[in-house]
Amino acid sequence: MTSRTPATAREARGSAFAGATGGDPSGIRDEPTRPKDTTANGSGSGGSVPGAGITVTRHLAAAERHASLAADVRAGLTANPRELPPKWFYDATGSLLFDRITRLPEYYPTRREHAVLAANAARIATACPATTLIELGSGTSEKTRLLLDALRKAGVLRRFVPFDVDEETLLRAGQEILRSYPGISVHAVVGDFERHLAFLPGSAGGDSESAGAGGVAADRRLVAFLGGTIGNLRPETRGTFLRALRDQFRDGDALLLGTDLVKDPARLVAAYDDSAGVTAAFNRNVLSVINRELDADFDLRGFAHVAAWDPENSWIEMRLRSVREQEANVRALGLVTRFGADEQMRTEISTKFTLEGIRAELAAAGLGTSAQWTDPDGDFALTLAVPA
Ligand code: SAH
Ligand code: TRP
Repeated sequence: MTSRTPATAREARGSAFAGATGGDPSGIRDEPTRPKDTTANGSGSGGSVPGAGITVTRHLAAAERHASLAADVRAGLTANPRELPPKWFYDATGSLLFDRITRLPEYYPTRREHAVLAANAARIATACPATTLIELGSGTSEKTRLLLDALRKAGVLRRFVPFDVDEETLLRAGQEILRSYPGISVHAVVGDFERHLAFLPGSAGGDSESAGAGGVAADRRLVAFLGGTIGNLRPETRGTFLRALRDQFRDGDALLLGTDLVKDPARLVAAYDDSAGVTAAFNRNVLSVINRELDADFDLRGFAHVAAWDPENSWIEMRLRSVREQEANVRALGLVTRFGADEQMRTEISTKFTLEGIRAELAAAGLGTSAQWTDPDGDFALTLAVPA
């Protein structure tokens, strides 16, 4: 799966997973994805099995991942202007590059969010003493340990459910959490949170560990969505996503949402255009994902990283600029695509919010804000929301 991981990413591996023995598959229990139309009411079948290993549900096995990537790339490369969807940044290399981004001096969001979490994790655990912590877009789940610690102290945590598109990072992180938190089961979900929210463990359509008589009321879920990742969704998609999540919620469940806040554009741009060029490599990685998975021949050196602040939309926009006229052949799609010199292709937006704006978006999706915190400088916010 990672046979073509370039040297830069291997170096990064050490920082993401210091001490991990790469790829030891023991302790991972496979749970084949059940057909979606038969998941509604599992009476004890499937589900998370507490014990030595982590349980895995795959909504994005190889074939589905391929079909989904192919459809997105075809649509994006034939659109005008062209655009590639950001979830495909995150193969094993992309996740490692992102992990390096989080340690860059210019990239303040991770440190700020860490500070807000450290200061308020106990309050969060008191407000929502969850038995299951679900984390969407979990990546390496590093900051999440602050929540796990606080929930464990509150005494009721039974299960951690990391959910991510990048299976390799997800499983490694899940196993590390399992090792650090004896007595807590880990149920990893490989999926797309834009498409597979209906299958969250503990939901009607999800697994069945806690479904059925008695269990439902007892399983209280906290859904953490950190890193400002919600800002990578366009406004319409955010609304759809939040409503889909709200639909899964029962009384007692809560959402903990991490969002970056509007600030001086110079700081914003620097966070997405670092001097070491890590963000540039991360941005170009989407092309190497397409090269590998769709048999394409993008020349990564032919594309330059662009990060620009868009004040009207209140987002940082990432693009790849073709430095010359060139062609790329996406063989798996039978698609040859031509770029003019300086033609730009959008790859990512990262929306910056205001505290009131966040509350209004949550309210529109049927979620009431019960608390909101920022770091002392007001750079980054955490919002705790419950079904209204
Ligand atoms: N939560 C971590 C990582 C943030 S990076 C942090 O705060 O540092 C965004 C993460 O979301 C990546 O791990 C990426 O693989 C995942 N991701 C992006 N789009 C996704 C999608 N549509 N569905 C599931 N995971 C997604
Ligand atoms: N969720 C992160 C953010 O918006 C993702 C991210 C950080 C990112 N740096 C990036 C996405 C560079 C694309 C390019 O801050």
